Amino acid sequence: MPGVNDRVIVVTGAGGGLGREYALLLAREGARVVVNDLGGARDGSGSGSTMADDVVAEIRKAGGLAVANYDSVATEEGAQSLIQTALDEFGAVHGVVNNAGILRDGAFHKMTSDNWDAVMKVHLYGGYNVSRAAWPHFREQKFGRIVVATSTSGLFGNFGQSNYGAAKLGLVGLINTLAIEGAKYGVNANAVAPLAATRMTEDIAPPEFLEKLPPAHVAPVVGYLLTEESTDTGSVFVVGGGQVQRVAQFQNKGVTFAEPPTVDQLAERWAEISDMAGAVRGVNPLG
Ligand code: NAI
Repeated sequence: MPGVNDRVIVVTGAGGGLGREYALLLAREGARVVVNDLGGARDGSGSGSTMADDVVAEIRKAGGLAVANYDSVATEEGAQSLIQTALDEFGAVHGVVNNAGILRDGAFHKMTSDNWDAVMKVHLYGGYNVSRAAWPHFREQKFGRIVVATSTSGLFGNFGQSNYGAAKLGLVGLINTLAIEGAKYGVNANAVAPLAATRMTEDIAPPEFLEKLPPAHVAPVVGYLLTEESTDTGSVFVVGGGQVQRVAQFQNKGVTFAEPPTVDQLAERWAEISDMAGAVRGVNPLG
């Protein structure tokens, strides 16, 4: 049986929604969990509610081990202090789930730098800050597991979510490189794009669609990716409503030109250049 028993795992944004579900599952499976949550509103405003304490109380009541942390993942200091909580309380850190998130939706013509930056800070910088703070410990112990929360809004786009989509796909860029750099240290990094009914999606999708998406369907996949036995790295999974799917970038054969083509020559071959039939998994030719 794949396991997380005794592992120390930090789950960011675990005071509610999906993060809470991840923390509960991990604790049930025997992990020691750091339940991080700033405790703010959906748009990132405010802080200080007792969300993380409530989840910790729930875990302890069921006989599990957990500690609360209220740092913001949006700053380097917050992330350092969060990882320090794991070390102080449990003596190690074996896995991080970069799950904390906020929304500042708006059509692109109304996008403001404030809303762009706020979303980048929590999602993309948050993923960087927390993974970076845990990284030296992972390398030293030659073991680590990173899961980031990406989104179908980043993978495929969604009206009104240019800031959010850019940040979420940025996290896929992050895990692609962490998978390469972590390989010889036993560090795996993967992404999960959840589909779940939470406060984040309550007014985004219709209720009849959301009722088929309990967060409990997503948690086992995150739990599995944190186990020692899981060998996936650099992979992206879309998970929700009972479906677990893998998503990847594919590249076609394309067209090779011996000389720089004219625009007309290019236009003549454009249908072939665009045709994805027979495409295979893309690799970095510079890597
Ligand atoms: P949620 O709003 O219930 O959970 C996000 C949590 O992050 C909140 O409890 C919030 O207080 C916390 N948080 C916000 N800023 C923080 C900060 N600076 N530091 C620490 N904690 C902070 O929403 P949900 O749906 O559970 O989202 C979890 C993750 O999954 C997010 O990253 C979200 O973008 C992602 N996601 C969710 C989808 C869904 O269908 N629910 C779809 C795609 C992605």
